[in-house]
Amino acid sequence: MKLNDVIVIIICIIAIAAVAIALVNKFALQRLRRKVTIDIVIGLAGAIVLSVSGTLVVLTYIPTHLNSQYQSSPQHYTATKPVGKALVIYQPAWTDITKNAADALAKSLNKKGYDVVVNYPGSFLSQDVSNYAVLVFGTPIYNSKGSPLVVNYLKGLKGLSGKKVILFTTGSTTPMSKDRVYDGIGNYLKDTTNLQRIKFSNKTDNNLLANDTVEKLCKKD
Ligand SMILES: Cc1cc2nc3c(=O)[nH]c(=O)nc-3n(C[C@H](O)[C@H](O)[C@H](O)COP(=O)(O)O)c2cc1C
Repeated sequence: MKLNDVIVIIICIIAIAAVAIALVNKFALQRLRRKVTIDIVIGLAGAIVLSVSGTLVVLTYIPTHLNSQYQSSPQHYTATKPVGKALVIYQPAWTDITKNAADALAKSLNKKGYDVVVNYPGSFLSQDVSNYAVLVFGTPIYNSKGSPLVVNYLKGLKGLSGKKVILFTTGSTTPMSKDRVYDGIGNYLKDTTNLQRIKFSNKTDNNLLANDTVEKLCKKD
């Protein structure tokens, strides 16, 4: 939710209250008018305080999850005849949208024959990724920002030369072009062979986007 949305909600609450007061003054019995008008004004003030404080809590508390380091929790998707290894690193935040996107990409890579490990970013991870052929990084976007944990891990990697990389964001309110989280990351990924940048939203068919992206990633194989 953006500040503009909150302003629109508050204007709507005020408009509804104004209409209610006008109706009361036109139709209610004389002796009830004052009492009902006071009740409406108190309700109006309460609704405004609740929407402003609720929005402040949502806007400040939820994005803190972008920077919470979780414990290592590797998930393995093994292939019977592996063509290579893939590493999927994502920051989970408030709901499961980013987790589901990461899982969809992991399953698509596994279907293509990769042994896949999925984990969170953190100091428990090795910075040497030379064992992997494919690297995937993902973060949700909150208030136009992504997870510094994912980006800092990416910036410290060694052995990136020749890798195929997928960078993804998740979110529903801004287009991918407005997500600046990976700005400047190209300098760190110069030696990679194939780089795909995608965004999952609540309207995305995760499996379709994941399969399509992995297909593009592997098309030179
Ligand atoms: C307070 C708040 C701010 C958000 N800001 C953005 C945003 O700037 N851009 C965007 O595309 N989505 C935004 N979203 C939507 C989230 O990015 C989306 O729900 C995200 O995919 C959730 O990931 P998670 O399930 O890993 O928490 C916002 C959601 C909330 C609650």
